[in-house]
Amino acid sequence: MTETTQAGPLKQRFTEIFGTGLAPKIAVAPGRVNLVGEHTDYNEGYVLPMAIDRCLAACFTPRGDRVLKVHSMDFAETREFVLPPRTEGALRQAESGSRSRWVDYVLGVFLAMQDAGFEVSGINMVLQGDIPIGAGLSSSAALEMAVARAVCEAFGILWNCAEMARLGQKVENNYIGVSSGIMDQFAATASLENCALLLDCRTLKSEPVPIPRDAAIVVMDTGVRRTLSGSAYNERHAACVRTLNVIRSRHPQVIALRDVDLDMLEQSRESLDKATFKRARHVVEENWRPVQMAEMLRAGDLAKAGELMKASHASLRDLYEVSCKELDQISEQACRHAACFGARMTGAGFGGCAVALVQKREVKSFMADVQAGYQAKVDAPSALFECQPSAGARILE
Ligand code: GLA
Repeated sequence: MTETTQAGPLKQRFTEIFGTGLAPKIAVAPGRVNLVGEHTDYNEGYVLPMAIDRCLAACFTPRGDRVLKVHSMDFAETREFVLPPRTEGALRQAESGSRSRWVDYVLGVFLAMQDAGFEVSGINMVLQGDIPIGAGLSSSAALEMAVARAVCEAFGILWNCAEMARLGQKVENNYIGVSSGIMDQFAATASLENCALLLDCRTLKSEPVPIPRDAAIVVMDTGVRRTLSGSAYNERHAACVRTLNVIRSRHPQVIALRDVDLDMLEQSRESLDKATFKRARHVVEENWRPVQMAEMLRAGDLAKAGELMKASHASLRDLYEVSCKELDQISEQACRHAACFGARMTGAGFGGCAVALVQKREVKSFMADVQAGYQAKVDAPSALFECQPSAGARILE
């Protein structure tokens, strides 16, 4: 789906629900694929995501009251709430329990906006997207950032990419209940066309990294789904915190695992259980791969960039242990193809998508061959698609 094909049906649905004469606008935010730097963002490290040409679109008009009336075309569902009055820390105090329904992300953004001191009120909204859900392509961050972009436009709030990305992360951490980092929301707001984004998750400084013209980025959906709010993600996060506390007792200057090197980690080996040590080793080594891959992409050295992706996958499989047999299968299948420089799982893991760096002129045969090979071994509804590096959240003109 492209922006132009999306705008027509979205506006039509909006008119069916809310009537004519309202002149709605459309905000869009993209999904992302991460090229390398996995599980480093919540350790204040580096990541190299790229926004893709699949997005979540929100068609909206502000209302005169405090009612949020929101329809999801993908879930064929309408929900209506009265926005509670602004109270200090409402996001954190909202009744506990894990949330992951589409409407939670919408309400979460409104509550977070109020928490941050922004004046917001009621809205009419219709949502539609084409980012596969639960596939590791950040459909939820796209939803949060499309809603945030719409809310800023509707209530005259200045759009600031980093500030809104932080706000989206707070929704995940404090309202949805996932201890995630900032990568997905930042990619959904600050990405530029034709580029990946090298992001330092400590300083939030980012640099666009052009994708070479002879390279294709292929998303390979294993067809296997995960739930991010499941405990495994938070467990990995907790393992990183445990290691950090042990290392800090010897090296108090260390603030996050991003500051740790292999020698420091080795000194703490005795104080950590085997699995926790392996998790930390992944983070320490993975943290520099985005910086190296950015250099390689800039130099046009696709072969070396691909090697980094392979090393990242091996580390996620063997040390961080967040891959699964389908992700291993599709990545190996891809790497065996002559046109492929490298492939790896992308996103949190446990299912979802892998990503491959492929010779552009061979991309069609690559996709056909890998799909056939994977399908011969795994019984899951897989799909491969080439994606274009796209821009972050915006209002459609
Ligand atoms: C999910 C989280 C991100 C990041 C990745 C793993 O996508 O939302 O913050 O931690 O997993 O790299």
